[in-house]
Amino acid sequence: MAGEIQKVGVVGLGAMGAGIAQLCVEAGVDTVGREVTLELGEKARGRIAHFLTRKVEKGQLQQGARDAAMERLTLTSEVGDLGDCDLVIEAIVEDLAPKQELFRELERVCRPDAVLATNTSALSVTEIASAISTPERVVGMHFFNPAPLMPLVEIVRAELSSDDAFERAYTLGEKLGKHPIRCFDTPGFVVNRVLIPLLNDCIRVLDEARVSVEDLDAGMKHGAGWPMGPCELVDLVGIDVHVHASEALYEKTREQRMAPPPRLVAMRNAGLLGRKSGRGFYTY
Ligand SMILES: NC(=O)c1ccc[n+]([C@@H]2O[C@H](COP(=O)([O-])OP(=O)(O)OC[C@H]3O[C@@H](n4cnc5c(N)ncnc54)[C@H](O)[C@@H]3O)[C@@H](O)[C@H]2O)c1
Repeated sequence: MAGEIQKVGVVGLGAMGAGIAQLCVEAGVDTVGREVTLELGEKARGRIAHFLTRKVEKGQLQQGARDAAMERLTLTSEVGDLGDCDLVIEAIVEDLAPKQELFRELERVCRPDAVLATNTSALSVTEIASAISTPERVVGMHFFNPAPLMPLVEIVRAELSSDDAFERAYTLGEKLGKHPIRCFDTPGFVVNRVLIPLLNDCIRVLDEARVSVEDLDAGMKHGAGWPMGPCELVDLVGIDVHVHASEALYEKTREQRMAPPPRLVAMRNAGLLGRKSGRGFYTY
């Protein structure tokens, strides 16, 4: 088994990648962030700096620890600068072709013992890995949004993942302060496989049972112990994000419960996206 993960690469510093890079530098791990341009990288660095400063203001982090964390982050637009990373986490656009192209580049530049992880939500990790000649080093590390706050990371074993790569990714998840769980590469992995059809059922019940949005949320909170109602949750996730994830799962499984309810598709089409647009099931 290769040694401890001391240097991590994060490719794509968008919503997820910047959060993952923040977790890494806070955990004392040297981190190289790769964006398509340095300007985009600098924007992500600014967001990370802002979040860490807020933690200092709230008394959750010492100023010195914040500054040390920021120093652990270097930025690049060159994949070649990831060559000495022990593990690279990919968090670019959710499309198979660019992900496969990136993994081919990573295979060329990274050390043979470096683990290559993808943060994909809905694509097959096995299919991403099939683009390279060393698929045994590829695993899924599926973080939840926002990555610095959500405790879970699903460690996903693809068909050809080696035990070594899988366990090293698990150990990194622990080092980042997350609660890792192990699973196989199946559509939706664990949480989305359960949660997406469940939320779809909840939305269908709105019409079937002629229950109000407020009463459905109260029902699930007070009758099932949910910390937040299903309509509040879909508003928080983003109705567009939920519909997209439902469509992807439906395409893979052809199970009717995975398909997005027409009511959600209509809301998405009307721009009622939940919290981020100011209106969804509730008005914000
Ligand atoms: N947003 C979520 O809730 C969520 C949750 C879990 C997993 N994911 C997954 O994480 C991945 C990223 O999602 P996101 O929401 O952060 O997307 P995003 O659009 O916010 O960020 C993607 C970033 O990748 C950059 N990028 C694109 N191609 C690149 C390349 N070749 N090299 C370097 N950077 C590149 C883009 O400039 C952009 O900044 C996707 O696979 C998504 O499915 C998203």
